[in-house]
Amino acid sequence: MEDRGSHTESHPVPNALQLNHRHLGSITMSSSCCEQQLVCVTGAGGFIGSWVVKELLQRGYRVRGTARDPADRKNAHLLALEGAKERLTLCRADVLDRDSLRAAFAGCHGVFHVASPVSNDPELVPVAVEGTRNVISAAADEGARRVVFTSSYGAVHMDPNRCPDAVLDETCWSDYDFCKRTENLYCCAKMMAEITATKEAAARGLQLAVVLPCITVGPVLQQTLNVSTHHVLRYAMGTKRSIPNAVAAYVDVRDVALAHVLAYERPAARGRYLCIGTVLHRAQLVAMLRELFPQYPVTTKCEDDDKPMVKPYRFSNQRLRDLGLDFTPLRKSLYETVVCLQQKGHLPVIKQKLRACL
Ligand SMILES: NC(=O)c1ccc[n+]([C@@H]2O[C@H](COP(=O)([O-])OP(=O)(O)OC[C@H]3O[C@@H](n4cnc5c(N)ncnc54)[C@H](OP(=O)(O)O)[C@@H]3O)[C@@H](O)[C@H]2O)c1
Repeated sequence: MEDRGSHTESHPVPNALQLNHRHLGSITMSSSCCEQQLVCVTGAGGFIGSWVVKELLQRGYRVRGTARDPADRKNAHLLALEGAKERLTLCRADVLDRDSLRAAFAGCHGVFHVASPVSNDPELVPVAVEGTRNVISAAADEGARRVVFTSSYGAVHMDPNRCPDAVLDETCWSDYDFCKRTENLYCCAKMMAEITATKEAAARGLQLAVVLPCITVGPVLQQTLNVSTHHVLRYAMGTKRSIPNAVAAYVDVRDVALAHVLAYERPAARGRYLCIGTVLHRAQLVAMLRELFPQYPVTTKCEDDDKPMVKPYRFSNQRLRDLGLDFTPLRKSLYETVVCLQQKGHLPVIKQKLRACL
């Protein structure tokens, strides 16, 4: 299996971020995989965080979940998860407050750092980056052995100069300057946060694995909706009236959660794990939605119909497959996303003949 050092040799990270590459080769992983271990999940109440908590509880871990306001009703679903009563506690922590993180990580073998603002707001970039630095540092202070960090394929695929035939894999990095110029500040934040995590973990002797999910869909456990679930909702509701001539990558949230846990548990796991199930044109995504749910007014209009359709790029999810992950078909994920949105009252349950009302 490749190591993280070889990734950086052939695909250097952007100079602008001033990463000391020498640190990257020195990451080591341990073989710990024990039920009843205490682990902490930051951002436990979010879309991905909730599924990570659920997966860990199912496997017998004792879990401490962080939220900025654990008592908020938006986190109530966590306490209803199977095993939560016996093995889940929630605690207050803000990623900008290192003391709160230290308290959350005390006694933990491992930390899953999922929490991050999902936003292009320039003011939130430092929250993602400094927050990650604080998490790694607090985890090391408290003697945790291993951290799994949730990065994003936004740190991987945003490179206008990538050859169209190239295979997107863990060696790829987005073009930081391009992301900044095009105001994709979320991608800038995730790149900088990932590099910070890698550098800090190496400096503190922490084992680090990085999961890089793409647009994540699938059933939601929480009541409030996150950005990627909104993406599907807007097409189903017909509020998104056209599609871009663009391709995107999708993955099921249950696969993302399992990827985190496998990256934590597998002794040989190290470095980056690109978490992509499917890459397809947006026209194919909406066609799938229309086919599954013809009663909803899903758009057929492409923003630039007159131009050739952008072709899906090739990608590799082999590293996660090697850890034992079987990816869920997008069709199943989409179907279950929509059914879940209906069940939670975000999307009206309508029969085909009522479609005109939407
Ligand atoms: N969903 C996707 O398509 C996708 C794709 C790639 C990567 N990711 C990554 O996956 C992670 C989770 O995303 P998600 O989609 O599950 O989003 P989400 O549902 O909006 O969850 C974000 C979480 O971050 C926490 N958070 C935000 N700012 C915080 C702060 N200052 N201190 C502590 N916690 C803070 C929130 O906790 P509070 O309850 O305290 O607000 C919330 O639990 C993020 O790192 C995101 O970049 C998501």
